[in-house]
Amino acid sequence: MSVNWSLPFDERVRTVSRSTTMTPREYEAMHERSLENWPEFWEGVASELPWHRRWDKVLDDSAPPFYRWFVGGELNACSICVDRHAAGHRASKPAIIWEGEAVADRGPTVRTMTYADVHREVNRAAWVLKHRYGVAKGDTVGFYMPMVPEFPIFMLAAVRLGAKFTVVFSGFSSDSLSERLNDAGAKVLVTADGGRRRDSVVRLKDIVDGALQASSSVKSVLVLKNVGNSVNMETGRDEYIHDALARAPADATVEPVSVRSDDPLFILHTSGTTGRPKGQVHDVGGYLVLLHATMRWVFDLNDDDVYWCTADIGWVTGHSYIVFGPLMEGATVLMYEGALDHPSPDRWASILERHKVSVLYTSPTAIRSFMKNGDAWAKAHDTSSVRVMHSVGEPINPEAFRWMRRNVGEGQVPFGSTWWMTETGGIMISVLPGLGLVPIKPGTNGFPIPGVEAAVVDEQGLPQKPFTRGLLVLKRPWPGMPLTIHNDPSRYKEVYWSRFPGSFFAGDYAVRDGEGYFWILGRADEVIKVSGHRLGTYELESALVQHPSVAEAAVVGVPDEVKGEAPVGFVILRVGANADAGLASELKALVREKVGPIATPREVFFVGKLPKTRSAKIMRRVIRAVAVGQSVGDVSTLEEEASVDEIRRAYADFRGEVSGAQDVAGRKRTDGRPL
Ligand code: WT7
Repeated sequence: MSVNWSLPFDERVRTVSRSTTMTPREYEAMHERSLENWPEFWEGVASELPWHRRWDKVLDDSAPPFYRWFVGGELNACSICVDRHAAGHRASKPAIIWEGEAVADRGPTVRTMTYADVHREVNRAAWVLKHRYGVAKGDTVGFYMPMVPEFPIFMLAAVRLGAKFTVVFSGFSSDSLSERLNDAGAKVLVTADGGRRRDSVVRLKDIVDGALQASSSVKSVLVLKNVGNSVNMETGRDEYIHDALARAPADATVEPVSVRSDDPLFILHTSGTTGRPKGQVHDVGGYLVLLHATMRWVFDLNDDDVYWCTADIGWVTGHSYIVFGPLMEGATVLMYEGALDHPSPDRWASILERHKVSVLYTSPTAIRSFMKNGDAWAKAHDTSSVRVMHSVGEPINPEAFRWMRRNVGEGQVPFGSTWWMTETGGIMISVLPGLGLVPIKPGTNGFPIPGVEAAVVDEQGLPQKPFTRGLLVLKRPWPGMPLTIHNDPSRYKEVYWSRFPGSFFAGDYAVRDGEGYFWILGRADEVIKVSGHRLGTYELESALVQHPSVAEAAVVGVPDEVKGEAPVGFVILRVGANADAGLASELKALVREKVGPIATPREVFFVGKLPKTRSAKIMRRVIRAVAVGQSVGDVSTLEEEASVDEIRRAYADFRGEVSGAQDVAGRKRTDGRPL
């Protein structure tokens, strides 16, 4: 089969159309071809971007694992996302359609900004950052924002100046915010007085004030008057955005600053099992090349699409697939502020209908919550405009997959589960409606995208047999990969590149079926996925042990019907402390306060001891097995920290412990059933 790899920017010809289907064998043959002439393959994709200066070398692999893409190339992400479209035939095309959560008599508030509007606003914002705050190349601008258009506009403005940005999800606490801002070295912070969520106001500025109490890299704070609540404005540090903008000329323009392909675009923190959050540093050139390719291959994006990704810009999904991916393609991006089921459970379906959304990117958690509310809410709306859907963040269960396919679009919409992670920058494994669609199986992730080599390996790094669980690796560098972990290059090497030298270790379990489809099963480490959000056990445990009554703590994720997983804490109290429901609620509140509402444990259990290896490492896998009522046999595979015997013993012991333990409601478990 002849393949047209070319994805010309301004010829929206559906040469590779969504109706193209292929067999898994045909796809694999095509994929193999992309790897044969790799990295020239990626060079071809990169050639479709408007660079200010072409690269000298596609891939510099002289200092692995610190690979550099399109070295010598220069570009500016803001001009690619905005100027190019504002100067051409898309000037009057809607770039951002924003819908606010609040519903008044006249319905929801909707703001539409064309590419020309975005261009004007980005320039004014860049003028403020440059002339009032001295932001320039090398600086970092921090963000702690609700989902309003000013969020991407100021991100693009920072990038226009050659600066990098660091976004902290607005559900994180003061402590988490302060830690991330300082690690990234943000000098200016863009925030808002508050955000709206389910008819209440989240007082973001108060959280910012808390974060900046201790010594901080942040010297200036720009505050968007968003909800109009009264906030503390510190003289000399804080300024309202509208006041700052009032000083900018109405037609302010700021020239985009060319940066090198391998300069940093952003730092985004991820949680792991040990240590503080890791600041993943992403480059400009490789990242945009990957986004360009995936917008076409995965989403089959065309000029007449209305594209909606339901994530928050605070997570990598929003960085890549709300801001940079769709805008660089000149798409119309729908941006929604609030909860998908507010004020009624059909809000999401009504958004699809009213805005005629054609491409939808959402999460298993969202789908499970739709499902829970029943089919009628979905059926009440005409969602026939939807022609491509994908989900992301965690494995999707077949029921949720089938439900979505049955209830949205015309029942036959290509629907995939895209696998990737903060580290990869963009989608790595997916079904590819824009290239040619293989038969879809409910819950599968599909195949690695062209130019990316993925494998499922055993503990020795050898290819795992079909239908046998192994570990997921990426066997070559790819555009969009991290440059490093900010301030900690040796950790980058250690965490991702040392387990299987030469390959990137993703930290996920996976299997391939007889036809080669990938099925990612979930984390092989102790990372917890709550509503698709990644939480490190370390941060939650550190919060718990800050309580004067707590001696030791372990947190594990247990299955949750809607959220995928929920955190559950196990704590050993200090002598004299009282194990009662009051203390358990206090501990839950403490985690909420220290880490953020998304991290609030579902339960906290008091135990006398925790299962540990001889080297005193807590066996969270054993705790989890007990908590979910699994037998330890299911979890001993691939456990490296202890011998199978040791795990069995620890399991039996701990099971005895927990059946005697009391949960918050004072219920006793003596039946050995899941908590
Ligand atoms: C982890 C990365 C990628 C943006 C959102 C999450 C899990 C992600 C899938 C999927 C099964 C998935 C993995 C991965 N994951 N997508 N389609 N099927 N698992 O980014 O917060 O960095 O988390 O999310 O476990 O390692 P992240």
